[in-house]
Amino acid sequence: MSQDGNQTSETAETLINISGAPFQGGGSCLIEEPLDPCAIVIMGACGDLTRRKIILALFRLFKSGGLPEPFLVVGADLNDMTTEVYRDFIKESIENLRGADLTEEDWNAFVSRIHYRVVNPEADSPYDGVADFLKRQSDDSQLPGNRLMYLAVPPSQYVNVVRNLGEAGLARENEDRAGWSRVIIEKPFGRDLRSAQDLNEHIHDYFQEHQIYRIDHYLAKETVQNLLMFRFANAIFEPIWNRRYIDHVQITVAETLGVEHRAAFYEQAGILRDMFQNHILQLLAMVTMEPPSVFEADRVRDERVKVFRSLRPFPVERINDHLVLGQYVEGKINGQRVPGYRAEPGVDPNSLIPTFAMAKVFVDNWRWQGVPFYLRSGKRMVRKLTEIVIQFKRVPYLMFRNVLSERIHPNLLILRIQPDERITLTFQTKLPGAKVCLQPVTMDFHYSSVKEGTLLDAYEKVILDCLVGDHTLFVRQDGVEQCWTFLSPILDACETCKDREQSLHFYEAGTWGPREADDLMGHEGRAWHVV
Ligand code: BG6
Repeated sequence: MSQDGNQTSETAETLINISGAPFQGGGSCLIEEPLDPCAIVIMGACGDLTRRKIILALFRLFKSGGLPEPFLVVGADLNDMTTEVYRDFIKESIENLRGADLTEEDWNAFVSRIHYRVVNPEADSPYDGVADFLKRQSDDSQLPGNRLMYLAVPPSQYVNVVRNLGEAGLARENEDRAGWSRVIIEKPFGRDLRSAQDLNEHIHDYFQEHQIYRIDHYLAKETVQNLLMFRFANAIFEPIWNRRYIDHVQITVAETLGVEHRAAFYEQAGILRDMFQNHILQLLAMVTMEPPSVFEADRVRDERVKVFRSLRPFPVERINDHLVLGQYVEGKINGQRVPGYRAEPGVDPNSLIPTFAMAKVFVDNWRWQGVPFYLRSGKRMVRKLTEIVIQFKRVPYLMFRNVLSERIHPNLLILRIQPDERITLTFQTKLPGAKVCLQPVTMDFHYSSVKEGTLLDAYEKVILDCLVGDHTLFVRQDGVEQCWTFLSPILDACETCKDREQSLHFYEAGTWGPREADDLMGHEGRAWHVV
């Protein structure tokens, strides 16, 4: 209940508002260790990801004192330019980004740390120039040879770039690990099980597993991390977090964005590779995993991997009973007309690539046996929303049946990951008055009401954790391969089936996806929580 007993009547359904104020003296945060001085090398330094996310994250970390001292950033890319030109290019790129809050003073303090080196990510030639530069820098300043290398290049270049780094000696660590070397790798990691295994093997030719940080930026979102705290730092939820009390779970990741300028990538990937293999399966793991014995990276990752191992394989001959695929056609988003997927620049006008998927999956273990998990994600939907809805079972016996005409709504626990981050619990209450009437009301906790601490953007968190050497939010080799083990047969079945075209359902942009998706849950009397 509310700590201050406040009651609000903001909406008909909101009677009780829980303030997020922490208990006096009760805040418990992990103590951050001092960071090692290091060089941060960005491969793909002129690319979109660097300009929109990585440099901004570094700049914000720098401003909030979240980077070690000393540190330097070395951008490396194909474009032939000097460090001075690169600095201007970066400044221009981030100037107008939301959250940059760029003042001349901050920029002047930051800019001297940025350097640029020309490399060819396509060529088979070791990055000796970068290695020599780093060597000179560590001799001149107090950088003890620690390096973080961020692969912000297209996945097709991972193999080359890793080889070129490795052959230049940049993957090597000192025996006592005093001079560490770490590599951050973006998704997508492979396009099926075979290619992910090959990529792992190739990276392991140069880097050991403890040096590799495979990103899933969803794991770095505050609200996703909070799932573990919510479940395992509170005694009241775990006893009911299982098949005895939970009817089903819905996980939605909806976006209003279309394919944007990423047609070349998206035409090869589609929604299953782009969102399911990684973000959605990781969200599922966070909801269903067992509590690890300690909050340590490998213990947490063990538990997530166990979930992936427990996923029930889809019966590929009846795939349509478990999976609905869709593609957006022209429609309206926020009042603006937007084109259909096939009319987007770079997209094949007959493309059969899905931009929406809904899957019904089961986690085969004692805790979750028989509980369906409905996973859906789509582009060009009504609004941006990532939400996990836990629907509890109905009351076992209707003692109010003589006075109520309707069935009692089941309790819902809604974990809103983004935007408007919050946790909501719905329950029944008696409406005041002589007549017996029930009404669902909600208890709301708004994340924004927790004012203490710095809210880190996912990329800031990823970089910070890599600097600290904490793997908790990164995907281990067995994790990425298990996810592909589940998904690869599904992709094979979808992409090779005779009725591929008929199995793709079109939906208007600005809707919640094709109607057929509702049928996956409809016949069991379940419906999407109205979002
Ligand atoms: C990326 C996908 O991993 O996640 C994009 O490649 C998607 O297609 C994006 O738009 C969504 O991330 P977020 O953080 O905006 O929900």
